[in-house]
Amino acid sequence: MPDEPTHRLAQLSDLHLTAGNAPLAGQIDTEAQLRLALGRLADSGLEFDAVILSGDLADAGSAEAYQRLQHIVAEQSELLGCPVLAGAGNHDERRNFTTTLGPADSVTEIRGLRLIQLDSSVPGAGHGEISRSRLAWLTEQLASPARHGTVLVVHHPPVPSASAVMSQFALRNPGDLAEALTGSDVRIILSGHQHVPGSSTLAGIPVAIAGGVSYAADPMYQKRGYRAMTEGQSFTMVEFYPGQVVTMVASVAANPTLHQIDVN
Ligand SMILES: [Fe+2]
Ligand SMILES: [Fe+2]
Repeated sequence: MPDEPTHRLAQLSDLHLTAGNAPLAGQIDTEAQLRLALGRLADSGLEFDAVILSGDLADAGSAEAYQRLQHIVAEQSELLGCPVLAGAGNHDERRNFTTTLGPADSVTEIRGLRLIQLDSSVPGAGHGEISRSRLAWLTEQLASPARHGTVLVVHHPPVPSASAVMSQFALRNPGDLAEALTGSDVRIILSGHQHVPGSSTLAGIPVAIAGGVSYAADPMYQKRGYRAMTEGQSFTMVEFYPGQVVTMVASVAANPTLHQIDVN
């Protein structure tokens, strides 16, 4: 008998939607990438408690891109039967983001699982920093535990980077976040930003970093610089069981079948 998770989330990160859906770097149809990923969720037949969009939703913060995204969010939350929750990243323009999508810091509780989106972006900058006021807000939210614990979504991963390029755009104060989370009910931290799926821990809490839905980056290129790739885009599925959280990385493209076993 398969185990049933208490909750299941999908995390789609780094959509980088462009104004008028112009091809990103002349090559990527970012709206098509997003729709491919959402289509994979719908086709799976799985039930999701929420879809989390973890920042860099618009590549250059265009108001039109957020409006188009808002339309997709409304349509897909209806289709999937769950909320689609938006968080901000360094590419987002805070005013255009909040006007269309609502606050970049938010708390949503779904059947006892608390989802907190915390904005780590610094207006006009690429690096991340969690401001004093946001740390205080987070501490306040975490003061009382949720029945199934908390998921913290923060665009900039609170992990070190050996990449000369990405280290400039890292979260500057992971220690402050670690302090705010120590002793809390946070079960997992979901990040994005690097466009490379990965995992780590912060203060003993698992950190899962989602790949990019729009494009993927090459961790094998970090000594030489930064290389964005036209293939290898992915998203993350997160399943919650009593005492454990399981993350799985899925490709945005439905890759060709080698073989399959169908159970129903
Ligand atoms: Fe990004
Ligand atoms: Fe980013």
